[in-house]
Amino acid sequence: MSALQTVSSLIYLVSAVCYVLGVHLMRSPKTARKGNGLSAVGMFLAVITIIVNVIIEKRITPTGWIVLILGLAFGIGYGVIKARKVPMTDVPQLVSLFNAVGGGAAAVIGIFDYLLKGDGASLNLAFSLPVWLDVIIGGITFSGSLIATGKLSGHVPGKPITFPGARLVNIVVVIAILASAWLMMGMETNVWYVVLALAMSLIFGLLMTLPIGGADMPVVVSLLNAFTGLAVAFAGFVINNQVLIIAGALVGASGTILTLQMAEAMNRSVANILAGGFGTGDSDSGSAAADVPVDVKETSADDIGLQLAYAHSVMIVPGYGLAAAQAQHEVAELAKLLGDAGINVNYAIHPVAGRMPGHMNVLLADVNVPYDQMKQLDDANPMFESTDVSLVIGANDVTNPLAREKGNEISGMPILDVDKSKSVVVIKRSMSTGYAGIQNPLFSADNTQMFFSDAKKGLQDIVASTKQYLDD
Ligand code: TAP
Repeated sequence: MSALQTVSSLIYLVSAVCYVLGVHLMRSPKTARKGNGLSAVGMFLAVITIIVNVIIEKRITPTGWIVLILGLAFGIGYGVIKARKVPMTDVPQLVSLFNAVGGGAAAVIGIFDYLLKGDGASLNLAFSLPVWLDVIIGGITFSGSLIATGKLSGHVPGKPITFPGARLVNIVVVIAILASAWLMMGMETNVWYVVLALAMSLIFGLLMTLPIGGADMPVVVSLLNAFTGLAVAFAGFVINNQVLIIAGALVGASGTILTLQMAEAMNRSVANILAGGFGTGDSDSGSAAADVPVDVKETSADDIGLQLAYAHSVMIVPGYGLAAAQAQHEVAELAKLLGDAGINVNYAIHPVAGRMPGHMNVLLADVNVPYDQMKQLDDANPMFESTDVSLVIGANDVTNPLAREKGNEISGMPILDVDKSKSVVVIKRSMSTGYAGIQNPLFSADNTQMFFSDAKKGLQDIVASTKQYLDD
C-alpha cells in the first residue's frame, strides 16, 4: 500500500467516525445541530481526500476537470442556497430531491464502471453483483424520489395514480429486472444489458410511488432514503471506496430504522407498507367529514387568554395545522409571555405529529424554543394529569382517544393523553378530521373547549388577550 493510500485510508476512518458520532448526536434535538455539523465535517474530509487522490495520481483529463469543477460548483451552490431558503414545511420534498440525486449518482457510477471494466469482467460475480444492485436500487430511488418530490410539492397530483392492468405491468417489469440480472452477471459486457436494467428500474420506481397518496409520502421518502444509502454503499463496492460503503451503510441502516419507527408510531406494519398498503386512509386535512354534527363547546380568544393567565401549568400540543399555518413564531411568543409570568410551560411532542419525522421538533427549534421544554411522548404523558390547560394547536389524530379502542384506523397508535388534563383548548378551523379521516371524541369531551380559527390568527388574538390579563 502506497503512502498516499495509507493516509487516505486513515482520513476515511476519521470521516467514518465523524458520521457515526454525528448520527449518535442526532438522537436528541439538543445535540442534533452538532451531529449534523460533525457529519458534514466528515463528508468534507472525504471529498477533499478523493480530490487530492485524483490530482496526485493524475487520474483526470482536462474535460474531467471541467466536469468536476462545474459539478462541485453547481452542487454546492444549489445545496447551500436551497437549504438556506427552504421553509420548514417544504423540507420533506427537499430531502426527497436529495435522495433522487444520491440514488441517481450511485446508478451512474455503476453504469460507467460496468462499461469501463467490460471485457468479460462482468462474469466475475464479485464485480457484477454490486454493479447490478447499484444500478437497480439507484434507478428505483431516482425516479421514485422524483415522483415523491412532485407529490409533496404539488407538481404531481397527490391522489393515488393507478391505471388498469398496473399489476400485470408490475409483473412484466420485475421479470425484466431479473432478466437484466442474468444478462449483466452471466454474459459478456454489453451496453444494452445495463440500459435494460436502468430503464426497468426507473419504470419500477414510478410504478412504486405513483399509486401512493400524498399524505403517505413521508414514509415512502424515508424508505427511499434507506434505498439511497444502499445504492451508495454498492457504488462503494463497485469503485472500491471504503468511505462510500460506510456512509451508504449508515444511511441505509438509519433510513430503515426511521421507516420502522414511523410505521410503529402510525400503527402500520412495515409488511403492509412494503406490500403496497400505502395510500389507504389518505385524506387531506380539512377535506373529510367536515360537517358531522358533534356537540362541542366553543370558546373565544379572550376567554383563552383569561384561562392561560391564571393557570399554573400549560402544555402546548402542536400538530400539522401549526406547521400549515406557519404559526411557530406566535406559539413561541405566547409561551415566552407565559413563562415570563412564572407559568410552567411545556410542549408535548408526538413522533408523527405533522407530516415528516421530527416535524414539530424542527419547527420549534427553529424559533428557539428551549429544548428542555420539548417533552417527547413518554415524558409528556405523565404530565397531563397535573396540567391546568392543554392548548392543542392544529393537532388531531395524535390526541385522539379512539386510539385506545379497538376497530378503527388508529387503534393501537400511541397518543398524547391530552384528555387527562384539567382543561383542554383546541385551536383548529372547523370540525374536519385529520390525516386518519376519523372524528375525535376529545373535541366533545366535558373538559374541552374549541376555538375555531386559523392557528396563526388565533394565536395572535390569544397573545393579545393574555397580555391584557397578565398586565391587569
Ligand atoms: P392531523 O391529524 O392531520 O390534524 C391536523 C389538523 O390541523 C386538522 O384536523 C386540521 O383541522 C388542522 N389544521 C389544518 N390547517 C390548519 C390551520 N391553518 N390552522 C389551524 N388548524 C389547522 O395532524 P396531527 O395531529 O399532527 O397528526 C399527524 C397525522 O399525520 C397522523 O395521523 C400521522 O399518522 C400522519 N402522518 C404523519 C407523518 C409524520 S412522519 N409526521 C407521516 C405521514 C402521516 P381543520 O381543517 O379543521 O383546521
